[in-house]
Amino acid sequence: MHNLKTYLEAAKEKNIAIGHFNISNVEALWAIFEAARDLHEPVIIGVSEGERDFIGIRQAASLVQSIRNEYDYPIFINADHAHDVVGVKKCIDAGFDSVMIDGSKLDFDENVAMTKQVTDYASVVKEKEGRTVLVEAEMGYIGSSSALLEEIPEGAGQDKTTPEIAKKFVDATSVDIFAPSVGNIHGVVKDGNPHIDAKLVGEIAKVADCHLVLHGGSGITDEDIRAGIEAGISIVHVNTEIRVAFREGLEKSIKENDSIAPYKYMNVPREEVRKVVAKKIKLFANLT
Ligand code: 13P
Repeated sequence: MHNLKTYLEAAKEKNIAIGHFNISNVEALWAIFEAARDLHEPVIIGVSEGERDFIGIRQAASLVQSIRNEYDYPIFINADHAHDVVGVKKCIDAGFDSVMIDGSKLDFDENVAMTKQVTDYASVVKEKEGRTVLVEAEMGYIGSSSALLEEIPEGAGQDKTTPEIAKKFVDATSVDIFAPSVGNIHGVVKDGNPHIDAKLVGEIAKVADCHLVLHGGSGITDEDIRAGIEAGISIVHVNTEIRVAFREGLEKSIKENDSIAPYKYMNVPREEVRKVVAKKIKLFANLT
């Protein structure tokens, strides 16, 4: 089985992106895996701090690894939006394939210093265990909640990442994956999310020696997502749209099914998540 790095390089070469989908439970994990396997595309499972607390760090890693091993399938796990180095190290030690250290609210030097501690730790793990753990960092505040929002959170999306600062950050930290602020916002905004600045993505891609990830993939038009990928995005994160699908599916299921057996009513939200994820993977991988 190749590691995530190999799949990311292949995606970059083909001008497509790998989908990163967040989970809070095993039903969503199965749904995402089934959607990816049907389409023969690699996939990344994301767990944020809240999601990790809910599932368990080691348990999330083991669940994903067990599917990877049983089905010999390229499914990977990422520690999404970790805000402290101790927490990130726990995820690396638990066997995560990649980790994101989120210093987007810090100033440049503080963000570099915190990120550098994580890339240094990943290098030690590589040296000692031969295991590749990719490190991601973010610059520019783009909001922080995967939720349905009345309006864009204060300050979010205003501080777009320039190519110069992106290059300086990537060179200083040696991150494998970089998340710029290019018009993307976490969550779905009622009156529509702002546009992705694909020209800016292209300029960053030219100078930043790493993979680029687009956070806040929910609520962005298909055209904007495709333009971002064509310009150099290799991973797209989606969470809010999955949460909405799960919740709506669960409400519908409970209304229509009076069984008390969870596996008899949790199958509907699982299927709703599978449908959303399948649509996204087709878009990211440019499948017709
Ligand atoms: P959305 O909730 O907007 O899809 O963003 C998810 C995300 O970027 C997780 O890291």
